Amino acid sequence: MKVKRFGVSLEESLLEKLDDLVKQNKFPNRSQAIRFLINNNIVEEKWEENKDVAGAIVLVYDHHKRDLQTKSTDVQHDFHTLILSVQHVHLDHNNCLETIAVKGKANELSALANELIALKGIKHGKLVMSAC
Ligand code: NI
Repeated sequence: MKVKRFGVSLEESLLEKLDDLVKQNKFPNRSQAIRFLINNNIVEEKWEENKDVAGAIVLVYDHHKRDLQTKSTDVQHDFHTLILSVQHVHLDHNNCLETIAVKGKANELSALANELIALKGIKHGKLVMSAC
């Protein structure tokens, strides 16, 4: 990919914020931080406009909780066209980590994530929004 250079004028306070971002994320330079911000913005816009997007739903739960796995499977079957893969890891004696890779219309992916995260017994759930 061709890389173009351009000059950026910024207020000092904004430049300080950019440098903080570089430090916090351990970016090698300011260019990488600006790339990160632009890409994040594009992903957010695609999700807001309900375009075809991709992402991952991350769930942590106690597999001893009654009916949780049955209910989670029911929800996943209701939305099966959106699900690319499911990875299940047994974290310890009680806890499971499930990563569900998804692709489809943004609002459908959000609906699937919301239903799963709302299930009784889910300790932590998060939809990671990305785009392709
Ligand atoms: Ni497990």
